[in-house]
Order: sequence, then C-alpha cells, then structure tokens
Amino acid sequence: MKRRRAIVMVLTLALVLTMALVGCTGTTGDSGNGTPAEEGFAPDATIGVALPWLGTQNWKEAETMFSDQLAAAGFNPIVQQADNKSANQLAQIEAMIEQGAKVIVVAPVDASQLGTVLDNAKEQGICIIGYDRLIENTTAIDGVVQYGSIETGRLQGEALLAGLATKGSAPYNIELFAGGPADPNAVNFFDGAMQVLQPKIDDGTLVVVSGQTDFATVATPDWENAKAQARMDTLLSGFYSNKEIAGVLAPNDGIARAIITACEQAGQPLPITSGLDAEDESITWIWQGKQYCTIDKPTLPLVDKTIEIIQSLQAGKGMPKPDSTTNNGKIDVNLYELTPTVVTKDNAKEVWANDPGRLALLK
Ligand code: BGC
Repeated sequence: MKRRRAIVMVLTLALVLTMALVGCTGTTGDSGNGTPAEEGFAPDATIGVALPWLGTQNWKEAETMFSDQLAAAGFNPIVQQADNKSANQLAQIEAMIEQGAKVIVVAPVDASQLGTVLDNAKEQGICIIGYDRLIENTTAIDGVVQYGSIETGRLQGEALLAGLATKGSAPYNIELFAGGPADPNAVNFFDGAMQVLQPKIDDGTLVVVSGQTDFATVATPDWENAKAQARMDTLLSGFYSNKEIAGVLAPNDGIARAIITACEQAGQPLPITSGLDAEDESITWIWQGKQYCTIDKPTLPLVDKTIEIIQSLQAGKGMPKPDSTTNNGKIDVNLYELTPTVVTKDNAKEVWANDPGRLALLK
C-alpha cells in the first residue's frame, strides 16, 4: 500500500514537473491541460524584460516601449538593462523570478551564460522569450523574436558592393568589422555578409588589405564603438599609409560612425560604409553622404510582436505558431521573424514615409 502511494506520488511529481517544463511550448489552442502557463495568468501579472545595455538606440527604444506598452496592456512591467555585464543580467533575472514574473523576455549580454538561471525560471513555469538576440545552449527558451539575422548580414554585404560600384572600377580596398562575440547576432550578421563578400574576395573584386577576414579577428568586443575605432586607427596606420580605403563592412551604425571618424582623422576619403539600426545620428550622416547605408530593423514591431506572444500566454493559448525554428545548440527554438530593410539616401524618404521622427532627419 505504502509502495503504491509512493509510486503515485513520484508519478504525480514527474507529471507536474513535465507540465511546468512544457508549459509555454504549446501552439495556439493548446490549453486546459492544467499547467499555469496554459491556463493563462492574471491580466495584471508581472512581466520581466532583461535588456543587455543601452549602448545603441534600439535598446533605449526597447526600454521605453516595453515599459509603456506592457503597462498599457495592463501588465506590471519590470524592465532592466545590464550595462553589458552578464553578472548584472543574471542577478536581474533572478530578482524577476523572485518577484513572481510569469514571462521573462531576455536579450542576453552573453547568449550562452544564462542556462542555470533560466532552468530555474522554467522549473517554476515561467515562460522565456528571447528578444532580438537568440539565447543559446539551453532548453529553457520558448521562442525568439527577431529580425532575420543572416538576412541582415546579407543585406549589409550587398549594399556594400552596390555602394562600391558607384566608386569607380574594381578592385576595391576594404576592411571588415563584426560585432560583439558573445552576441549570436554578431556571428550571423558577419556570416550573412560573407556569403555575399567572400566570392568577391576570391575573384579579386575586393581586397581586404590587412588580410583580416576571420570573425574572431574582426569582432568588436562588447560592441564598443571605441574599440572599433582603435582597431580602425591601427589598420589605417599599418596598411593604408600609401593607399586609399574604398569601403568598410560595419556591423551597426555606432561602429560605422567610429570607423568613418577614424578615416576622417587619418585624412582618408570617406569609405563606403554599411551600418545597422537606423540610428538618428547615422540617418543624418546618410543624408549628408557621410555613411553609405544602414539596415532598418524598427524596434516598435519587434516589441509589438513580443507583447502579442505574452498576451497569447496570458490568455492560456500557449505560444503562437512560429514562422520557423532556429537551433540554439540544444533545441530548435520557435522563431518569430521580421524582415529588415536596407536604407540608403536614395530610398530613405520612401522607407520612412510613415515615421515622422526619422523623416524629420532627412533635410
Ligand atoms: C542588435 C543590434 C545592436 C547590437 C549592439 C545586436 O544584437 O541586433 O541592433 O546594434 O546588438 O547593441
């Protein structure tokens, strides 16, 4: 008798744990199996948002938009940023768990360092959504909302080539930069760009004068503009004292401006430079002809999509049907993917026709 009761208890415990683990993974319509997530949760529940830093405009926008829109939707938001320090982010997520968050949205500082704290969140039935950046090497993730990251890189590579073609004939001297190595986006942006650029390096259209073409060498630790500028200074003094540089692959707008500044200071003509984020300052530079292009990946639709998922979870409908999946080293993660757009001076007015803030910068 005692033994039977023990077996029943063990089985019940196993069922509860399994249900907590699968709590958020159901797609639309999976409800009513008794797990907290699939029964939904209170409309005024606490929702945590853990952002990596506020070093680029997109994260500042996300901070404001998540705070405002989660509150407008009736939730109790806790939105924090980690100053680019993984330890800060771990502590912030732990505090969100303790404060009873039902969903935690995470844009990781270091994508592979969150396993334990997220496992802990999962065990308590909390849903975890990756925002903009994928969370790697964990099973404790229910989905990721982001702009196509390989596609973003491909667009950067294509735009760089198109811009160089306006500069006279090949070969073109270029240099390559990537973002922070702890951010899987940085790897994907670079891989996407190299899908386009490598064949042109191989056929001699492009010459990477420094010879630095592997991700580890061209990455910019922590996405810090100053570190990119220091590397550009070194490249210019080491390899371009008697050469002109024609173009630079830059992974985002802040790094693009740092590179352009280094070129100006070295007395180089302005290189064709890519970017990302459509930051106000870079829009102005594009309009003035200082930066060649950026990639528009507007924050608002990304935040809206994330909140749509949270509302589906709140209503007990589980995770909405994803667009596809992406592997994070451990599992195939539900991917909710938006489409980025290249912007140059030529199409800027068209792209931002309905964005009065950005349109106002085009003058
Ligand atoms: C984001 C970019 C941003 C970069 C640095 C990336 O993960 O996708 O928009 O510029 O981080 O903050």
